[in-house]
Amino acid sequence: MAEGSQLIRGLEGVVAAETKLCDLDGAHGRLAYAGYSIDDLARKATFEEVCFLLWYGDLPKKAQLAELTAAMGAARAIPAEVTRAFALMPKDTDPNRPLQAAVAMLGMFDPDTTDNSHAANVRKAIRLTSQMATAICAHHRVRSGQSPVAPASDLSHAGNFLYMLTGTRPSPVVTKAFDASLTLYAEHELNASTFTTRTIVSTQSDMHSAVAGGVGALKGPLHGGAGEAVMRTLMEIGEVANVDAFATQALATRRRLMGFGHRVYTAGDPRAAILKGMAEEACRQSGQFKWYEMAVKLHDRIHAAKKLIPNVDFYSAPLFYSMGIPVDVFTPVIAAARIAGWSANIIEQHDDNRLIRPRADYVGSKARPWRPVEER
Ligand code: CMC
Repeated sequence: MAEGSQLIRGLEGVVAAETKLCDLDGAHGRLAYAGYSIDDLARKATFEEVCFLLWYGDLPKKAQLAELTAAMGAARAIPAEVTRAFALMPKDTDPNRPLQAAVAMLGMFDPDTTDNSHAANVRKAIRLTSQMATAICAHHRVRSGQSPVAPASDLSHAGNFLYMLTGTRPSPVVTKAFDASLTLYAEHELNASTFTTRTIVSTQSDMHSAVAGGVGALKGPLHGGAGEAVMRTLMEIGEVANVDAFATQALATRRRLMGFGHRVYTAGDPRAAILKGMAEEACRQSGQFKWYEMAVKLHDRIHAAKKLIPNVDFYSAPLFYSMGIPVDVFTPVIAAARIAGWSANIIEQHDDNRLIRPRADYVGSKARPWRPVEER
């Protein structure tokens, strides 16, 4: 290890980049993208406006938004080869894997694949954001024995996602809730997957390679995979009446409960508070209120006992479930949102790059004499 440096496990508290994208105040539970509070953005902006904010630095004027919306709409189609590849994949594989493969394949077809200039990166960010949504939905349709649904030109990015996934046009209320969820997941500073994407492009590799790596980092249950795990926990509990016994047992066995805790937020995750309200509404409207009730009861019990806060993935689980999103597609949905932030971070990293190459503290055996295999 370099002299004077010290081991910081999990890089906790280490500042590894300057950014204009995300202002995360964990002590006060505040989050803003480029100076705009997450509360305002989730309630008032569209995902397309948030994408513009992250890629261009400020909210769009009307004509700029129209131009970006048209560009995203024009980029929704994915190469037929990607859909054909989905048909060859095992039907029961975790959908994060086909997504990772699809991102890598999209890189093979993208006209700007190896161009890491700022302008090319913005073009790729637009295309990849549109195409990842299409790919996730097409893969789900293909694995379910259904034909992919072509995007509708009159629907927003959020509306199109739900339409391409289910084949049914979503209501304005559901579309708004999903759109706000995409905004809430769009960016979050140097989380593990974003750091992964920055590390990959710091070698002067390209956006598609980095995003494929980002999907791999996101799917772990300590990161984006937590939402899916929350829903499986709620299903394991089964009924509101079982929450108390479950919580008592979980606390007694020191079980790690997915959707609780956060490395940076100590005063609560502001995204969870917004998602809680949205989950309440969506679960009530879809006639599946029990999932919301169970989540609230579990939240209260765990918080009272351990002061653990629910994070973004806790209330998004009953929300996504009540929208009819399959549980194993929750993490790909988060990827479909986080591509906005991944690509914006990749642009920042390429614009002011230094190879990311930390050191390790060697704790293995001291120098040992070599012995031929017969003598070991
Ligand atoms: N359930 C039970 N105990 C927990 C949990 C949890 N979810 N989270 C933290 N703790 C306890 C942990 O046991 C430890 O206690 P002690 O000091 O007595 O051993 C203490 O809190 C500190 O935990 P840690 O694992 O050292 O803290 P960390 O900063 O490394 O962990 C975390 C952060 C998110 C990995 C962790 O809270 C966790 O595993 N949560 C569950 C997974 C999850 O919900 N992940 C999503 C995170 S937010 C969205 C995203 O990143 O995509």
